[in-house]
Amino acid sequence: MKGVVFTELLTMAEGVVGEAVLDEVLDGLELASGGAYSRVGNYPCSELMAIVGALSERTGTSVAALQKAFGGWMLGRFEVLYPQFFEGKRDVLEMLDAIEGEVHVEVRKLYPDAELPRFETEWLGAGRLRMRYVSERPLVDFCEGLIHACARHFGQPVTVGVQRVSAREAVFDVALDG
Ligand code: HEM
Repeated sequence: MKGVVFTELLTMAEGVVGEAVLDEVLDGLELASGGAYSRVGNYPCSELMAIVGALSERTGTSVAALQKAFGGWMLGRFEVLYPQFFEGKRDVLEMLDAIEGEVHVEVRKLYPDAELPRFETEWLGAGRLRMRYVSERPLVDFCEGLIHACARHFGQPVTVGVQRVSAREAVFDVALDG
């Protein structure tokens, strides 16, 4: 998993719990990296899960809620770092439909070692998109956070139905409200 994901998680966490508590949380974990991440490095996803788990214990916020919040945070970073991927998309569903075949394809060109999930999309009608998420990483809740934040980016209220198959697989039915 890319270092930028770790540096962003730590930036978000520092804003919530403060630097001292974050340092304590990291010190309490036996991380191979020592908790020092470079944006351009690659680190095991298990470290991300360990940090999120420890933050959950420390704050009393569930792992699922933390993953969702972090998904929202990352979308905000993608808006700043990669605005070109949002341009030309008419609405949130068109954007979500383009992640697999366009956005993550470009990400893979930039970072051939990126560890990305697989999405299969299916239109259930106008204004209704089904997205099947399959990953080697247990990030279903992170993905849900990205989807909601993407809808906010486009200023479009959506209802997201989630059928969770496992921590690594889920079907999201995203419907435009109204
Ligand atoms: C401009 C928009 C986007 C960019 C530039 C982008 C790029 C990336 C990058 C760099 C990673 C990390 C890869 C790694 O750590 O090796 C990633 C992971 C991920 N992306 Fe995207 N992404 C975008 C939008 C989205 C959206 C809207 C979704 C939601 C449907 C999404 C779903 C995911 C998920 C779930 C992961 C975590 C990896 C996994 O689950 O296996 N991305 N993306």
